[in-house]
Amino acid sequence: YGTTGVNKAGNLEIGGVDTIELTRDFGTPLYVYDVALMRERARGFKHAFEEQNINSQVAYASKAFSTVAMVQLAEEEGLSLDVVSGGELYTALAAGFPPERIHFHGNNKSKEELEMALDNRIGCIVVDNFFEMELLKSICQEKNVKVNILLRVTPGIEAHTHDYILTGQEDSKFGFDLQNGQAGTALITALQFEHFEVLGLHCHIGSQIFETTGFLLAAKKIVEQMAVWKNELGFEAKVLNLGGGFGIRYTKEDEPIPPSHYVSEIIKEVKKLTSQSSLKMPEIWIEPGRSLVGDAGITLYQVGSSKDVPGVRKYLAVDGGMSDNIRPALYQAKYEAVLAKKPLARANETVSIAGKCCESGDMLIWDLPLPETGEDEILAVFCTGAYGYSMSNNYNRIPRPAVVFVENGKATQVVKRETYEDLVRLDLPLK
Ligand code: LLP
Repeated sequence: YGTTGVNKAGNLEIGGVDTIELTRDFGTPLYVYDVALMRERARGFKHAFEEQNINSQVAYASKAFSTVAMVQLAEEEGLSLDVVSGGELYTALAAGFPPERIHFHGNNKSKEELEMALDNRIGCIVVDNFFEMELLKSICQEKNVKVNILLRVTPGIEAHTHDYILTGQEDSKFGFDLQNGQAGTALITALQFEHFEVLGLHCHIGSQIFETTGFLLAAKKIVEQMAVWKNELGFEAKVLNLGGGFGIRYTKEDEPIPPSHYVSEIIKEVKKLTSQSSLKMPEIWIEPGRSLVGDAGITLYQVGSSKDVPGVRKYLAVDGGMSDNIRPALYQAKYEAVLAKKPLARANETVSIAGKCCESGDMLIWDLPLPETGEDEILAVFCTGAYGYSMSNNYNRIPRPAVVFVENGKATQVVKRETYEDLVRLDLPLK
């Protein structure tokens, strides 16, 4: 995985840093991110557009992992930023991210959130529904400001991990339906309002997708509609945003395709479709989250208690769990892991990795082949960079772990470990 390897001491290393030293310096559980790999992923997407001379924006979907340092890294790499809440927007602004490259998403943005976005002159708002359109309209009028918008449409395609389904009338809480005319009504309404600059259209078909088919189908549906709107309304979209969802390898069963492949296929299809309909080639925007940060992150845990259920299984417990990685409990997500002091040792037993939360469902990995565990073992779980820290929580009042970035043999802490004081910071006494 990434720049993980084995160093002279025989320990797992990442970004040229010994993972055991990391646990000594920063404690466990610990999220560790390989900065070089995140840069490589970002450049992979960007270059794929640049190579073909296509105007584009690659917006990092910060829901995957949002912290000040991460947002700054995205800015260094020339990415745009997708935020979905006042909190993510605040983080972006606190990190000094250029507001004009921020896109604001969400199906229920509040008045305060929209005002914050307008006051900070962010790049665009992805309008999700009629309620929001009216709300945004009234705020624009009140403040007498203009705003760039994209309309989020649901093209009636839903991608699942290994396939996609066509759903006639999309049953989704997000966006304007393309098939039943909602999207057209939304467009007409938006075009009539002088404070809106309608840049174009957005769709997002799913997450952890391993094929280009769904993206191409979505592009087809939208471009066909764009052609109709050009004829009927004289409206030509400048931007086509196809969302995120590019899959990554969590385990050997996953077979991701390179970012450049998604991008070149999408460009090819949109070029073909637009020229068939005599439309101008729009800017292509995408919003990868997981694929920029997922496989760059690992989590280091201290191994603690073990329990044998004779003839059934052996449980090995670590000092974290669903509080720092809720994905196995929530989605039955699968991960791979090694013992950081002997990453290459031959496995001679099968263990199931339990978290420490008071809940039977708090299992990180079922049936993991591992070498025999000795004293003081550290378990390294791979591919925890996306939706790990960002979905972490304080269940059982477990403090959130620290986050460390590693690059060129150097470790930099980017999020401090939560303390017990932090946990009661917002609590008020009974009297
Ligand atoms: N754009 C939009 C509008 C989205 O809703 C999402 C993800 C993305 C971009 C980024 O998708 P990505 O490239 O990361 O797949 N918590 C779940 C994933 C939820 C994704 C929600 N939307 C998980 O841990 O798998």
